[in-house]
Amino acid sequence: MSQKLEQLLANNRAWAKQIKSQDPEFFTKLSTQQTPKYLWIGCSDSRVPCTQLVDLLPGDMFVHRNVANLVIHTDFNCLSVMQYAIDVLKVEHIIVCGHYRCGGIQAAMQHQEFGLIDNWLRHVQDTLNKYQNYLAAFSDEQSRMDAVCELNVMEQVFNVCENTLVRNAWKRGQNITVHGWIYSVEDGLLRDLNLSLATIEEMKAAVKHLDLKTGLIVT
Ligand code: CO
Repeated sequence: MSQKLEQLLANNRAWAKQIKSQDPEFFTKLSTQQTPKYLWIGCSDSRVPCTQLVDLLPGDMFVHRNVANLVIHTDFNCLSVMQYAIDVLKVEHIIVCGHYRCGGIQAAMQHQEFGLIDNWLRHVQDTLNKYQNYLAAFSDEQSRMDAVCELNVMEQVFNVCENTLVRNAWKRGQNITVHGWIYSVEDGLLRDLNLSLATIEEMKAAVKHLDLKTGLIVT
């Protein structure tokens, strides 16, 4: 095995030893059950290590990551993670977390071609088209890209709320709040996009608010 991979295994042994030194029963307790309160839906980007950046331990957060943190209505991978998190683990919070300087968003904005993934990123292109008038008002490329990263999170928050899993959970009276956050790879800080939705009415109000803000509807 290459020296670099040997190093990863050595790192792992040191990590497990360190946790056990603080709590000798830690892994034994976790081996029988997990009771995470959070589901994290984030980008695969290596610079956004979700559990680390919120300083949680193994067992605290259920995680789904894909390129550009997209929630697609027919993506059975993401849907299965959500279904298990909602119906079995009964998580109370679903956090959709995007990040600035997302390579997936950038590729979609600049029409870069990478192969198969272009089809996945087509969903970001749809968001760009939807908000094109609003986005055209940004004078510089960086702030426009930041705005797209934020809009993409909001769209995915709405997608989480729109699918049958969350809608039915809310109908049953299950306590689930869906949040939109964004992470800056430049300072290591999360920003709350002030989108915390716990009912279908709150979701509809948030969609209307965004539509008004971005000029999709005019009063
Ligand atoms: Co990304």
